[in-house]
Amino acid sequence: MNPSNPIAEQYRTIRNNIQFAADGRTLRSLIVTSPAEGDGKSTAAINLAVSMAQRGEKVLLIDINIRNPMLHKIFNSQTSPGLSNVLANQLSLVEAIQLTEVEGLELLTSGLRQQNTTDLLDSKVMKELIELAESRYDRVVMDCPPVLTAPDTNVLANKCDGVVLVLSSGKSTHVEALEAKQALAFAGANIIGALLNKKKR
Ligand SMILES: Nc1ncnc2c1ncn2[C@@H]1O[C@H](COP(=O)(O)OP(=O)(O)OP(=O)(O)O)[C@@H](O)[C@H]1O
Ligand SMILES: [Mg+2]
Repeated sequence: MNPSNPIAEQYRTIRNNIQFAADGRTLRSLIVTSPAEGDGKSTAAINLAVSMAQRGEKVLLIDINIRNPMLHKIFNSQTSPGLSNVLANQLSLVEAIQLTEVEGLELLTSGLRQQNTTDLLDSKVMKELIELAESRYDRVVMDCPPVLTAPDTNVLANKCDGVVLVLSSGKSTHVEALEAKQALAFAGANIIGALLNKKKR
């Protein structure tokens, strides 16, 4: 990513808003999600994580989308070892993390696809994984599945400090946006802001 382009500038603004939205509280673990598939969650999570690392923070980016992982492709890596291996107690978090070419940015890919994704995420091991990551990194950015297609993101909502809700301009409907917001709020999420992703046509 070219740090001086307008998109990078937009993410720096969002990154700074995240800092100021905190009311003095540190927002260390952040969920990035959206109502539906293809709204731009992974793109937003990557850009946010990169811009935070560029500010000098130590950042862990996690691919929570075990059903439809993406981050390994962007970083030219493999899905496994990754998150699902840690959740299945096959590896420690430290063993599963990969370095990236971006200084300060480390990556936990999804791990192999599992049957019981929601149960794996709604577990004590996952809660402990987030707590350990929060103790070792300045920011933990989680690229999550869509809110309205599976319960995977909702079960994480109250285990993280904040949620960034990505909405896709011209794609996300008002009803979808409202349903996603309500589902997250019901699950105990601290929604810290919405990010409007505008794709060029
Ligand atoms: N602002 C943008 N401009 C142009 N293309 C974009 C933009 N944001 C996302 N895209 C493209 O749209 C597609 C979907 O984006 P992305 O993978 O980030 O969405 P997602 O919400 O993570 O999808 P999924 O629900 O499958 O996880 C990708 O091909 C991505 O490159
Ligand atoms: Mg994605």
